[in-house]
Amino acid sequence: MTHAPRPETSAPRAPFRFGILLSGKGRGSNMQALIDAAREGHIPGEAALVVSTSPGAPALDRAREAGVPTCLLPADDYPSPEALDEALAAAFEAARVDLICLAGYMRLLTPAFVSRFGGRIMNIHPGLLPAFGGQGFYGRRVHEAVLESGTRFTGVTVHFVDEEYDHGPIIIQRVVPVAQEDTVETLAARVLAAEHRAYPEAVRLFAEGCLRVEGRRVQVLGKTSTQRDTEETEEHR
Ligand code: GRF
Repeated sequence: MTHAPRPETSAPRAPFRFGILLSGKGRGSNMQALIDAAREGHIPGEAALVVSTSPGAPALDRAREAGVPTCLLPADDYPSPEALDEALAAAFEAARVDLICLAGYMRLLTPAFVSRFGGRIMNIHPGLLPAFGGQGFYGRRVHEAVLESGTRFTGVTVHFVDEEYDHGPIIIQRVVPVAQEDTVETLAARVLAAEHRAYPEAVRLFAEGCLRVEGRRVQVLGKTSTQRDTEETEEHR
């Protein structure tokens, strides 16, 4: 059964603290975008902890260089997903984070973890969900599938996390047009640039208490639907 995030407004306290979770050999570019946005005041709060479940992730070095506390919890050290998630939860709770941002985290979070942080976990996906999402759709596979499909538009989705891959309520989407001459590399680069704008924006909205989840829909408080739609097609212009 899917437990959607609790139907309530994001309720930040001051100072707002967020954590970042990643795995694999990710570049950590979204992590960097979030850290930079907080430093530059675009997110009213601070990156309190970066956790990786893979040794040797370059992102951890980037986080250390940025002066953000890091924690390595190698997935292979734990006998089960539940045990790993228990350690992850303890680390984020000890860091007193209000929000956990997945930034290239490839594992499915356990129901216990999702309900413990209900409505306080976000993910970013390099496509317009619910298309081109779910298990197996990650990295260049998303862009390959987009190009093969012949669709004219792709983009970015920031969403709350539930117990299924790429499934929770959608917070922000940004449209990126597919050009006739695009390759996986050129398309991926444009989508990534859009990710680096969209993720900090979603975290800012959360930190400011502007997100209210109602079922599968996320209301962005203080914005008319016209304003919201205009912003979401920003990449198209
Ligand atoms: C991004 O494409 C993001 O959408 C996905 O994982 C990738 C992470 O890239 N969830 P980076 O490590 O942040 O550069």
